[in-house]
Amino acid sequence: MNVLVTGGAGYIGSHTIIELITAGHSVIAVDNLSNSSRESLHRVEKITKRTIPFYQIDIRDKPLLTKLFDENDIDAVIHFAGLKAVGESIQKPLLYYENNIDSTLELLEVMTKHDVKKLVFSSSATVYGSAPIPYAESMPTGIGITNPYGRTKYMIEEILSDHSKSDPSFEYTTLRYFNPVGAHESGLIGEDPNGVPNNLMPFVTQVAVGKRDKLQIFGNDYDTIDGTGVRDYIHVVDLAKGHLAAIKNSKPGYYAYNLGTGEGMSVLQLVHAFEKASGRPIPFDIVARRAGDLPEYYADATLAEQKLGWRAEKTIDDACNDSWRWQSQNPNGFVTIN
Ligand code: NAD
Ligand code: WQD
Repeated sequence: MNVLVTGGAGYIGSHTIIELITAGHSVIAVDNLSNSSRESLHRVEKITKRTIPFYQIDIRDKPLLTKLFDENDIDAVIHFAGLKAVGESIQKPLLYYENNIDSTLELLEVMTKHDVKKLVFSSSATVYGSAPIPYAESMPTGIGITNPYGRTKYMIEEILSDHSKSDPSFEYTTLRYFNPVGAHESGLIGEDPNGVPNNLMPFVTQVAVGKRDKLQIFGNDYDTIDGTGVRDYIHVVDLAKGHLAAIKNSKPGYYAYNLGTGEGMSVLQLVHAFEKASGRPIPFDIVARRAGDLPEYYADATLAEQKLGWRAEKTIDDACNDSWRWQSQNPNGFVTIN
């Protein structure tokens, strides 16, 4: 298949392109590089030994997006492009609604015009809000979401679902990621956040490599195994393979699947696993809880296994080893000027 990957230079997009190419698909990448580097795709080209057609455009720019579709015979779209920083979304909600929702609407219009009717969308476990754990696809979504970023994901899901009802020939697969971690085993690509990392794993790897002094653990008084927050950490390569399964099993209608391991792990458990993998100590302070954080959530991961034939295979040790290889070989990330 000829697959357009929006947000293809980003963390999950770049890993997914490798899996798509390895499985025999052709890929076109589009990204405005607002949160990524051109270098990541050069590294993907090195790993796959393929040239990847790349369009540096903002997908809200309809004429340029139309031109991209005019120039390529696209069979399916995997839509990663979007802004994803929870804290920033609280500061700049309009930016998040505009970027994430407008871009999706423009994309859907251009797809419709070009008769491209297969879309895989990057959603998030955050859509479950305050639902009971483990989160299952049968549960209601949209209740108790604590930030605008999460609400953009919920709203886009609703848009896709509504659109699918109006045109049942469209094939929509929404994938709700839990907490992506890890990197490609080559050590050539990985997560490269701008500035101070918001997420746990990149913060831990930056402490290990000496870029930051200490980790701050946000609360140890939750009702969890050791008092620290519990999440479902999924290796980014497993996640990437989930997109292959979604494309392969795509069918008319709207379907949502969790992509998680089904297992919860605490902050302290992850820190200890990383210390073991890297051989480096991770000094930390316990500080106040972070506003908006939930104590504990993880996936009921059975539906994706039943319907897509996909399940997570890599371990947290694999993820820690791979994240450390990426960070230690690239202490400053991709470090190139776009
Ligand atoms: P990322 O920031 O590394 O990748 C997103 C890419 O989209 C970036 O390269 C950015 O430059 C690009 N982009 C943003 N707005 C754009 C626009 N208007 N036009 C063109 N390109 C644009 O993030 P990621 O971690 O790879 O996440 C990919 C997707 O998965 C996002 O939609 C994110 O919300 C979702 N997601 C991520 C996580 C996570 O923790 N990483 C969890 C759940 C869902
Ligand atoms: C994990 C755990 C923190 C940083 C977010 C989004 C979610 C999804 C994934 C996109 C929590 C603790 C963290 C630190 C810490 N993104 N922590 N010190 O908050 O589960 O999910 O990213 O869709 O929508 O909300 O991920 O990695 O930030 O936190 O103690 O410096 O680590 O409190 O328990 P989170 P995270």
